[in-house]
Amino acid sequence: MEKHTKKTIKEVVNINENEVMIEREEVVEVNQVIPLGIAHSDNMEKIADMSEHFSQTMDPILRMYNAAMNATTARMEIIRDEFHFRKQRCPLHHIDTRLKSADSILGKLKKKDLPLTLTAACNNIYDIAGIRVVCPYIKDVYLIRDRLLAQDDICIMEEKDYIKNPKRNGYRSLHIIIRIPVYFMNKKQLVPVELQIRTLAMDLWASLEHDIKYKSLHNECNIDFTAKLYECSGLIYQVEEEMEKMNEVLEEY
Ligand code: GTP
Ligand code: MG
Repeated sequence: MEKHTKKTIKEVVNINENEVMIEREEVVEVNQVIPLGIAHSDNMEKIADMSEHFSQTMDPILRMYNAAMNATTARMEIIRDEFHFRKQRCPLHHIDTRLKSADSILGKLKKKDLPLTLTAACNNIYDIAGIRVVCPYIKDVYLIRDRLLAQDDICIMEEKDYIKNPKRNGYRSLHIIIRIPVYFMNKKQLVPVELQIRTLAMDLWASLEHDIKYKSLHNECNIDFTAKLYECSGLIYQVEEEMEKMNEVLEEY
């Protein structure tokens, strides 16, 4: 078998277009761990055909995203700890994390009609590492956002404020994509992580809406609940606003 060449490294690590990832020389040398025989291509479909090699190939990439997810979560835990130390109400209720599977990355590339390559995945899929931060109140959502973005090694790539501008079905949450430095394979990587920051009330609505959407897709039922869901989102918002006001009174007492 042919040995990996420098050229191969460049091919694999060209995940830096549109300034999405890191400097070329800083990118993880994926080829070091790609099994022989597929080292000259990052074509995921071809790799997927060799099923026993597939997870091995994705492994270093997913580990890098996993490290970025853990690093971001650690920053959040530090914020939580600070509030505990000060004996103040904590702006974080809970944090959920999820790493996209290799299969799901492949599925998303197909859905978006993108080349089935590692390069395309790293350049176009920003939610490989996903974190959901659930806060008690709306003001906490922005507090967490501001605290995180004030950290000078974290940069923001994208922000979508579905709290100020809810979706047509009433979905509310603050979505931000950050890049956080991770030292992986002895190199600094700036890895994208998607954060969904929302309140408990927004999380309740989103979980039930997800369930309803899943069930109606599964049952192939054609009822359009969009207007009804929007109405429910408004009701939930009224409740959370009232409760936030009560908390405000107590905090100023
Ligand atoms: P991507 O290419 O997937 O990033 O699409 P996008 O950027 O248009 O998606 P967006 O950032 O709006 O939403 C991404 C994620 O937010 C989804 O995977 C869900 O987890 C969550 N989300 C967005 N809209 C809804 C919704 O209407 N209901 C629920 N339950 N979750 C939603
Ligand atoms: Mg998105």
